[in-house]
Amino acid sequence: MPKGNRDSIVIAIPKGRVLEQLGERLEQAGICTDALTSQSRKLVRQDKEAGLSYLLLKPDDVPTYVEYGAADLGIVGRDVLMERDYDVFAPVDLGIGKCEMMVCGRPGEPLAGKGERPLRVATKFPYIAEQYFRAQGTPVDLIFCQGSVELAPLTGLADVIVDLVETGETLRQNGLVPLEKIADISSVVIANRAALKLRREAIQPILDALRK
Ligand code: PRP
Repeated sequence: MPKGNRDSIVIAIPKGRVLEQLGERLEQAGICTDALTSQSRKLVRQDKEAGLSYLLLKPDDVPTYVEYGAADLGIVGRDVLMERDYDVFAPVDLGIGKCEMMVCGRPGEPLAGKGERPLRVATKFPYIAEQYFRAQGTPVDLIFCQGSVELAPLTGLADVIVDLVETGETLRQNGLVPLEKIADISSVVIANRAALKLRREAIQPILDALRK
């Protein structure tokens, strides 16, 4: 599938939690998802009839593929776009994958430093956390964690976390509570800027169908 020499529209799809809701949303838009949902380890799935190809990616990598034009379109959570600046267009909010970016910790945990030292914040979203606490005027030490970040306040690694909360079940089961909301998050469709101009005839109907 060499770049610039392909017939199909390439859509970067995030593997994981949102995939089920996304499949339903694509079907509602009249886009057949058989190629996407078939059990296989293939990372490129082609629907020749519809003229679509899907790339199955880690969610964090979706905007990179779209920015560089390896994919024309992509589906990604707003959290990923907030954490890093990508040169992509985000024309449609899908209203799926809804959750909240929150500061969480033990009940009653004060969002302030402990004596001389700044508030310790563990997170997979250091940029979002830094921006938020800077706006609050709260000095922080940021500790980067890849996942299971709820462990940080339980083990003394950090005072609080900045993380996504969907059902709140992970917090509850680990004795933590939401303390402050940073942002509402949902999944959006992103588009490569050049592809949107050069392949608008093929891309616009997909965007229109997904917007409904
Ligand atoms: C996410 C997030 C929370 C959890 C929130 O983690 O980081 O840990 O989901 O969901 P809930 O409110 O419905 O419990 P994920 O499951 O993606 O795994 P991770 O910890 O490896 O990031």
